[in-house]
Amino acid sequence: EQWFAQSQSLAGKRVLVTAGGTVERLDPVRYLTNDSSGLMGFAIAEAAMNRGADVTLIAAKTTAQPAAGLHVVRVESAEQMLQAVLAKYAETDIVIKSAAVADYRPVSVAASKIKKTGDTLVLELERTTDILKTLGEQKQSQFLVGFAAETDNVMAYAMDKLQRKNCDLVVANDITREGAGFNVDTNIVDIYGPEGLVASLPQLTKREVADRLLSLIAERMERAVT
Ligand code: CTP
Ligand code: CA
Repeated sequence: EQWFAQSQSLAGKRVLVTAGGTVERLDPVRYLTNDSSGLMGFAIAEAAMNRGADVTLIAAKTTAQPAAGLHVVRVESAEQMLQAVLAKYAETDIVIKSAAVADYRPVSVAASKIKKTGDTLVLELERTTDILKTLGEQKQSQFLVGFAAETDNVMAYAMDKLQRKNCDLVVANDITREGAGFNVDTNIVDIYGPEGLVASLPQLTKREVADRLLSLIAERMERAVT
């Protein structure tokens, strides 16, 4: 059990974390997904639990193992993640959306295995619902944190996401940098708020990134009420 200054504790706070990469089915044995490991989200959930928060972790495909005592809701697709998040949203104080949600899914899911026919195959995809944007539109008093994995123009894209999705903070990383992003134990992130760049963190373990982020959230929520 760790000790945190009162301003950094999350005792009594209801925290919702999403993690992992969504899986969008084509047929019973095939799907579209991405490289997200879920490690960042699992680290955030564990760190929040250690600060006394009541944590729900909504996890899509991941290689991470949940810490003992963590409440994990398993989902597969973007649509299932949306429904799981919405079911909890009204009773949540802080939402941290670290999941890599598919932007597109197959228009239809074949009931049986697709057989090969022609020399080429064209898949028709449709947009998924933007979960974070939906939460931003329905925001009451929740503190909303988004993620942005970018390969260029990190600041411009991060600020655009923060504003468009009505977030309180956006955690941005340049996934082309070694030691950042998918499937590694470390991350290098910049954190943006409505006023612009808030923190530019060095390469840290994902657990350390989680703790720095949670301290920022706790301080900002404290400031909002006092
Ligand atoms: N996100 C979401 N639902 C989606 C797509 C993204 O909730 N259907 C969330 C992610 O969980 C993340 C944030 O939005 O917290 C940013 O995701 P990202 O992929 O970086 O941004 P997009 O808005 O999807 O834009 P693009 O992929 O075109 O950069
Ligand atoms: Ca996206």
